[in-house]
Amino acid sequence: MTFTPDSQLDLLFPAERIPDETRRQLHSDFHLRPLASTDYRRGHLSVLSALSTVNDPGEDAWVTQFNTLRAVPCTYYTIVIIDKASDRIVATGTIFIERKFTRGLRSVAHIEDVAVDTSRQDKKLGLRIVQVLASITENSGCCMITGNCIDSNIPFYEKCGGEWRAHGMACGRASLYGC
Ligand SMILES: CC(C)(COP(=O)(O)OP(=O)(O)OC[C@H]1O[C@@H](n2cnc3c(N)ncnc32)[C@H](O)[C@@H]1OP(=O)(O)O)[C@@H](O)C(=O)NCCC(=O)NCCS
Repeated sequence: MTFTPDSQLDLLFPAERIPDETRRQLHSDFHLRPLASTDYRRGHLSVLSALSTVNDPGEDAWVTQFNTLRAVPCTYYTIVIIDKASDRIVATGTIFIERKFTRGLRSVAHIEDVAVDTSRQDKKLGLRIVQVLASITENSGCCMITGNCIDSNIPFYEKCGGEWRAHGMACGRASLYGC
């Protein structure tokens, strides 16, 4: 499949929200962009299966979910890394923004569903996903980013830079906080 440029895609959020400097750090074999309405066909669920069991709801239901997320402005930011040679997704991750009545009415970003295709792990793609999500978070005026992960993944987040720290570990899971 030939690589599809952003201009031919229906994206979850404007690609300009992804800082250019973070995109430039990616190897030229890859392209980083927001999730697109046709990404069901590019293996989005297959990549997520590296993280947990995924029950495939079918393309129509997937697209309905995509449209539901996109209808909520400035809230859901799912990004993907595309292997240009195959036009397939090799990594993904999401932040969603929670607007608080506490914290002086500021917002908190939640990091979710970071996954790299099993055949592409250990090539710094996960690192890039987390760094880009963190930069979107900063530009969204959030006071912090938070998420949950299994204990064995804490070293991965610590290597992603920023000030990730584990907190409140229980039952083999940890909450992560970054500024
Ligand atoms: C965890 C995951 C996202 C990491 O992505 P990746 O592309 O394989 O990792 P990277 O190459 O970006 O790793 C960056 C650094 O973290 C380290 N690292 C990655 N995973 C690690 C782990 N579980 N434990 C310790 N270190 C880890 C790498 O060795 C690398 O270190 P280096 O800079 O010293 O070489 C990926 O392995 C994955 O999808 N796993 C299954 C799903 C999952 O657990 N997702 C996380 C949900 S919280």
